[in-house]
Amino acid sequence: MYDNNPTLTNLDNKQILHDRQGEILEQDGFVDDPNAKTFYIESYGCQMNFSDSEIVGSILSDCGYSPTKNMETSDLILVNTCSIREKAEDTVRKRLRIFNKVKEQKPGTLIGVLGCMAERLKHKFLEEEKLVDLVVGPDAYRDLPNLISTAEDGDKGINVFLSREETYADIAPLRLDNNGITAFISIMRGCDNMCSFCVVPFTRGRERSRNAFSIVSEATDLYTKGYKEVTLLGQNVDSYKWENPETGQKVNFAQLLKLVADVHPDLRVRFSTSHPKDITDEVLTTMAAHENICKYIHLPVQSGNSRVLKLMNRTYDREWYMDRVEAIRRIIPDCAISSDIITGFCSETEEEHQDTLSIIEWSEYSMSYMFYYSERPGTLAERKYEDDIPLETKKRRLSEVIAIQNKVSLAHNKRDIGKTFKVLIEGTSKKSELDFKGRNTQNKMLVFPKKAGLAPGDYVRVKVSDATSATLIGSLVE
Ligand code: 5AD
Ligand code: SF4
Repeated sequence: MYDNNPTLTNLDNKQILHDRQGEILEQDGFVDDPNAKTFYIESYGCQMNFSDSEIVGSILSDCGYSPTKNMETSDLILVNTCSIREKAEDTVRKRLRIFNKVKEQKPGTLIGVLGCMAERLKHKFLEEEKLVDLVVGPDAYRDLPNLISTAEDGDKGINVFLSREETYADIAPLRLDNNGITAFISIMRGCDNMCSFCVVPFTRGRERSRNAFSIVSEATDLYTKGYKEVTLLGQNVDSYKWENPETGQKVNFAQLLKLVADVHPDLRVRFSTSHPKDITDEVLTTMAAHENICKYIHLPVQSGNSRVLKLMNRTYDREWYMDRVEAIRRIIPDCAISSDIITGFCSETEEEHQDTLSIIEWSEYSMSYMFYYSERPGTLAERKYEDDIPLETKKRRLSEVIAIQNKVSLAHNKRDIGKTFKVLIEGTSKKSELDFKGRNTQNKMLVFPKKAGLAPGDYVRVKVSDATSATLIGSLVE
């Protein structure tokens, strides 16, 4: 899941992490040690990038750096970047100019670009842009200590090597956006799908799955530390597959889900992202069989039209997608489904756009991430098709998609009025100190008045009395 907007901004010297529903999660757990060198990191784009920043944090603390919220005093300023759309890259370029202003005040500060943009632009950053000291691709974070030494000696530190094996399985992430309740666990890296619009296979390399035991032990460790929810992350979790080299035992995604769900019934399990071509009935029956596997599937459709889906190289058509949604409804009747949608892909007609509008209504998505098509250099679409839909048309189609989705989300949420849900309290609502916020199993955010004796991490029952398109409003029930 990605965002066009910056997900980490610096306001009054406080880092604030905006989650996808617009809630704000404050970052805590940053203890500045006056004797240690410090690093400051901003992350943009998908949840995988936030998860990677925590791996980077762990590698940096092992070599003597501690995290800081204060960019102005830090020794190392890092930005973990996203290349998925042009806008995401523009945002990073703006941030780099700001970092360089800070560096003018404090010469010696190192500035590094991490992640997808580092991978995509490689030497260009050092040669043309001259704004950075370090360029580090998503598979090269173990090399950071060496690259930092190189940069400290006045040379540029660059490593954009893409690996077929690296999963960082043995690295315990340093939890940066830490509410102490919910955490991401990366279960695989890269993507082999080659959707024609997408730059990810080029920036994150080949798909590889992480050792299942290391995933289960990370989940167990988190539960022991008081966490109550883990989200298993991968570009395409349904194609997770790992083989124990000692026993030959194979683990697929459904089996991994069960292993993590069995860590403890009070540890909720979520996952993202599912691919419509790969999600199996075995995954769905595993979800149905475990109360603590959340009843929510992010199942990006991208387009509701079969011809456009073929051009997108999604390898399914409208009927296949509808069949998968019907399977979800049959096996997990209370499951919420969300989607990603792209408007104005190469040669998309008005009728084909109507098919996207109709699949949103038919699928009854609880929410969607919606974008207009942004051509990315090097992708299959850039090489094979003309980006021929005018920007105004792409934007108009996007606003129609957003309008339908808002209507569908509101109707979806209104249907919850009168129902009672089990909610995991995540913290205080951003709108009122007097309210808690938390999610139900369908990943819907609920807001409800606080009660003495309750705290984040507690499970409570909340009865819904009102709804907007983004939030359910309710009150505690005994
Ligand atoms: N233009 C617009 N949206 C894109 N996405 C991926 N590549 C592009 C692009 N070139 C969207 C897809 C994907 C989500 C992560 O980002 O909807 O599922
Ligand atoms: Fe990109 Fe498609 Fe892979 Fe998702 S599944 S990361 S959209 S290539």
